[in-house]
Amino acid sequence: MRWNQRKEGLSDSRPLVIIKLGGSAITIKDSYFALRKEVISGISDEIRDFFPERRMIIVHGGGSFGHPVAALYSLQNGKDSNAPSMALSDVEDAMMRLNRSIIEALRAVKLPAFPVQTAAVSRAKEGRLEAVNSAFFSELLSWGLLPVCYGSLVFDNTMGYSIVSGDNISVALALKLKASSIIFVSDVDGIYDSDPKVHPGAKLIRVYHALGSSLKEDRVPSGKDVTGGIANKIRSVVPALSAGIEVRIVNGLKRGQLSSALKGEDVGTKVVI
Ligand code: ADP
Ligand code: IPE
Repeated sequence: MRWNQRKEGLSDSRPLVIIKLGGSAITIKDSYFALRKEVISGISDEIRDFFPERRMIIVHGGGSFGHPVAALYSLQNGKDSNAPSMALSDVEDAMMRLNRSIIEALRAVKLPAFPVQTAAVSRAKEGRLEAVNSAFFSELLSWGLLPVCYGSLVFDNTMGYSIVSGDNISVALALKLKASSIIFVSDVDGIYDSDPKVHPGAKLIRVYHALGSSLKEDRVPSGKDVTGGIANKIRSVVPALSAGIEVRIVNGLKRGQLSSALKGEDVGTKVVI
């Protein structure tokens, strides 16, 4: 398999997988600017084993970088937040710092990671992602690159700007680029019948019916999570499921779970409609 199909003029039938690295897995979400370095390098090792046989796009969340800064200025409320322009710069800077750490870890294992500034390639309307320049991602893929973008501040046609979750960006890219699957890497094994951090006896649901079940989310995301918690994740994947894209949630804190999902093994929670 050639890394650079474009240069060789070859058609590309390799499956495309979108990997969403949740802020809960790559950072300590209850803290401030706290990275989980070992987790990030473990995940990078796992991704390397599947590259270039799979085409992949990495989307990461904000965790303890983006969320506290966005919450401080209520940036999710757009221009109504009356935030100073420095706040917009602060949140993007926080996300770019986190992005830099992910890029460094991927490059350390010789993966051709390529950072993509989300705000420069997307647009929102009424707080929702409206358009993402998927052609740009296609072009990066055709050069054998591993694009890495993130949930971010996105300029918004009605609100001025808003905060778009990496979950929504993952789904939009998966739909436009006809990905075969989206793997959400979180800090729990999958979806449980109640929040496993609140109820130690909570049971893992191996196949979760996104439309048929109502999620019990006891631990309502703290004020610091400006994009909503796992319930928003489930809602956002419905269009992908309808398009036949496979969706799985795995635990990034457990070595090997991402690899199993990439192999198509039955790990974590499979989300279906
Ligand atoms: P991420 O940061 O990985 O994108 P979120 O923080 O949005 O993900 O969601 C993951 C968190 O959701 C977990 O840390 C878990 O504590 C919480 N959670 C709440 N209810 C549930 C549930 N029923 N099943 C699984 N996790 C849940
Ligand atoms: C949030 O992205 C981005 C910002 C707060 C700027 P996500 O909603 O994807 O982040 P996580 O995965 O929940 O941390």
